[in-house]
Amino acid sequence: MTNEFAPNLSAKLAGKFIVLDGPDGCGKSTQVHRLAEYLRKTGGGPLTVRDPGDTDIGNAIREILLGEKYARRDIRCELMLFMASRAQLVSEKIRPALSAGRTVLSDRYVSSSCAYQGAGGLDVAEIIQTADMATGNLWPDLTVVLDVDSEQGFERIQTYRSQVALDAMEQKGLEFHRKVRDIFLKLPSFYPRPVLICPAEGTVEQVHRRILEILCDVHF
Ligand code: TYD
Repeated sequence: MTNEFAPNLSAKLAGKFIVLDGPDGCGKSTQVHRLAEYLRKTGGGPLTVRDPGDTDIGNAIREILLGEKYARRDIRCELMLFMASRAQLVSEKIRPALSAGRTVLSDRYVSSSCAYQGAGGLDVAEIIQTADMATGNLWPDLTVVLDVDSEQGFERIQTYRSQVALDAMEQKGLEFHRKVRDIFLKLPSFYPRPVLICPAEGTVEQVHRRILEILCDVHF
């Protein structure tokens, strides 16, 4: 990908908060890195973060959430742990970077709580209210959901993670992951800020290009 494709994109995204999200196996972590690399090459200085985690407290909470030891837990407790990690991430990293005029690219955010804890039985309106409180009302300028068919997402997880154990969320069944995908697809209708759905099939470069196109076309 050369600079000519989107010469002004890094300037356009300065001070903007962009989230890539989607079901397990949609390839968003790869795309966050690919997009950050592109912005760096074209003059930007993005901050990339991963939710949950990326702070000392957040990493400790992440271990609780994704390890096996505390896999039996109440869904409201689970939601609050994701929100606690996010509250710290917002205050320690995201807000300061945005204030300094940097682009923030986040691998997951409140959209994941809507999809996963929503699939776990919580009301999405309540999740959004809780997120308002936890983040001090910090919402992304744009959320891009990478959409992948649930069966295909599962297959990708198995391939990528054949050497490592699946985490607590990935171990849930296909039915749960179908619900997660359904909520992600409905997100544009109830999320407080803009959400665009991007098909995630094809090569890493093809999906990267689609994301660049979305970012070039969007009006903030
Ligand atoms: P992670 O290893 O970051 O997954 P991935 O590489 O797929 O992004 O693990 C995060 C898991 O936690 C993932 O299965 C989604 C889930 N999750 C929630 O259930 N709620 C949330 O609010 C967030 C941010 C993630």
